[in-house]
Amino acid sequence: MNAQTPIYAALPFAVPSSRWDKTHAATLSPAELLLYRSNLLGSDLTVTNFGGGNTSAKLTETDPLTGESVEVLWVKGSGGDIGSMKLDDFATLYQARLLGLEAHYAGPDDDDKMVGYLPHCTFNLNARAASIDTPLHSLLPFAHVDHVHPDAIIALAASSGGEAATREIWGGAIGWLPWKRPGYTLGVMLRDFVAANPQLQGVMLAGHGIICWGDSAQACYEHTIALIADAANYLNARLARKPAFGGQAVVSNPDRAAIAADLMPRLRGFMDGARAKVGHFSDDAEALEFTGSADFERLAALGTSCPDHFLRTKIAPLTLDPARLCDDTYLEQQIADYRAMYAAYYERCKRANSPAMRDSNPVVVLVPGVGRMTFATDKTTARLAGEFYGNAINVMRGAEAIGGYIALEEQEAFDIEYWLLEEAKLQRMPAPRPMVGKIALVTGGAGGIGAATAARLLREGACVMLADRDAAAVQEVCNGFAAQFGKDVVRAAVCDVTDELQVQAAFDACAREFGGLDVLVANAGIASSAAIEDTTIALWNRNYDVLAQGYFLTSRAAWPLLKRMKAQGGSAVVFIGSKNAVAAAAGASAYASAKAAANHLARCLALEGAPEGIRVNIVNPDAVIRGSKIWDGDWRKERAASNKVDAGEELEAHYRNRSMLKRDVLPEDIAEAAYWLASEMSAKSTGNMINVDAGNVQAFTR
Ligand SMILES: NC(=O)c1ccc[n+]([C@@H]2O[C@H](COP(=O)([O-])OP(=O)(O)OC[C@H]3O[C@@H](n4cnc5c(N)ncnc54)[C@H](O)[C@@H]3O)[C@@H](O)[C@H]2O)c1
Ligand SMILES: [Zn+2]
Repeated sequence: MNAQTPIYAALPFAVPSSRWDKTHAATLSPAELLLYRSNLLGSDLTVTNFGGGNTSAKLTETDPLTGESVEVLWVKGSGGDIGSMKLDDFATLYQARLLGLEAHYAGPDDDDKMVGYLPHCTFNLNARAASIDTPLHSLLPFAHVDHVHPDAIIALAASSGGEAATREIWGGAIGWLPWKRPGYTLGVMLRDFVAANPQLQGVMLAGHGIICWGDSAQACYEHTIALIADAANYLNARLARKPAFGGQAVVSNPDRAAIAADLMPRLRGFMDGARAKVGHFSDDAEALEFTGSADFERLAALGTSCPDHFLRTKIAPLTLDPARLCDDTYLEQQIADYRAMYAAYYERCKRANSPAMRDSNPVVVLVPGVGRMTFATDKTTARLAGEFYGNAINVMRGAEAIGGYIALEEQEAFDIEYWLLEEAKLQRMPAPRPMVGKIALVTGGAGGIGAATAARLLREGACVMLADRDAAAVQEVCNGFAAQFGKDVVRAAVCDVTDELQVQAAFDACAREFGGLDVLVANAGIASSAAIEDTTIALWNRNYDVLAQGYFLTSRAAWPLLKRMKAQGGSAVVFIGSKNAVAAAAGASAYASAKAAANHLARCLALEGAPEGIRVNIVNPDAVIRGSKIWDGDWRKERAASNKVDAGEELEAHYRNRSMLKRDVLPEDIAEAAYWLASEMSAKSTGNMINVDAGNVQAFTR
């Protein structure tokens, strides 16, 4: 391929087309039509990014107090996403009262004050809060209004050539308003502009997006789609003429996934803050095209444009030199420099009443030839930040194709980031769950105790990598957790803990998928019983391979990742041991002695781990029959036979009655202890064993 070839002509803007289904629409009420239109728009990623944009309709409703007909503005409420919203995610407000609010408005300084009046206009006690974009909808005299942030539109809105392009594409039908941050003032500007230019069918909002309207839900929807398609076609024609971003300067590294797995835990370790970060890696076409381009450094330094992009990705990304990724000193300095840059931005832009400076670590980290890494306190936020930066890349590509890309001006960006109303929203958020920001790997995660422990950690907000040699079972457990806890927070790795390479691959996958590791739960195990004379070398080795060597291999592979978290409060290893590790068992010497070896390994590691901030503790279960696959097989029959009871309820009753407390021990009981030892609640404990066995005097530790 010669250097002149526009190698990235393969990345055009997607051109949306109408997906309106007339037959379906005919069955819907006016409010349902608004919802249908919103969901159609929002579920099309060429139309809007997650959470971006809002839609409205002015509908006639019956006033619950007077019984009279009254005009009500239905408009997407604060928060949420038009693609997935439901009817009760719309705010409903008396349109006449909204219009009456202007009496309280004296000028741009009143923007924040005007937000406070919105709840007074609520129709029918609707609890959904109205968003700050509500005036854009209420002040326009049109029945149906869409406001969206498609990449192809923002590309025009954020380009020095955007205003001319808008004229060229739509003649005078689409107007152009200079940048103004969302709020009542923008609504007034928009209304006056439209009143003065009655030919308008929509308005480009510079640096932001577009607003347009129609006489019916269908007309409004189709108008929005057509405008986006026009913009995309216009940009695509120009993108085809020259390579994007000045052409390719760095070839994509074929080892980029491995590089990300190595790099992310180190970056994560160098970040500071009250909570650890979870990472997300992408080497999609946008990320490689942009980071590998000639214009990369220049454009990345400019930051993003649309407020949505900016709020998710911070003032600018951190860019790293791919030749220096192995150098920890370099990485640490880069993160420190970023934080200093952010603090300087805060100091330059802060106002007398600005909230205190927030987390100053980079959110987006870009490496030429490798891709894009994003970091946030939870996985979904990290993933979305990455996707928003992908949108920003699209915007820059389009903007540069028709002129120069224009980023959001620094003070404007600051005023949005540190907006007092936004701060109030943050203050109202509930405290995050204890394990948010933590990443755990659970071996034997497809089994009874492993899956219960993973669920316990997931419930408290952790991200979990399930590792198990049973491929089908681990995928099934993973799918179940994805449905229960969300697809972002759980992954599965097929891994036999006796295989050094597979173990390393599972930890690499964890690092690449989540950015590092805070908790290892070493749990994968088997059980066997045989009298000493019947114990073959194969049986002996099998127990030692899985239980002793397996725990060793997983701990050794976890170690370099766990060490990285020392400055952030440290990390934890939890061994699932056994009562039989401390209490001698007749007829199970291979199993019991291998378990004892693992338990002693934990104590050696506790000693070695302490200076690294790694705590190592043990949970000793006993007779966890329900849910355990160990108890599905021969072990159950052997134990039943040796105790002279049947292998069903009698066996459970046998163990219950054998315990001091006369209670069943369940996987959830083991999980509870493992969670405690994995969490900050046990921050001062290492080298300990907790017996979860309903009481067994032989297992008392001394
Ligand atoms: N269930 C009990 O009564 C009991 C009592 C004491 C200790 N334990 C210990 O608890 C742990 C979990 O046991 P469980 O009851 O949940 O059993 P389980 O059989 O339900 O789960 C064990 C899981 O480990 C996996 N596994 C086995 N060998 C593996 C290997 N080489 N590599 C990767 N994965 C492997 C299995 O596929 C299974 O999913 C084991 O270490 C066991 O020794 C259990
Ligand atoms: Zn907007």
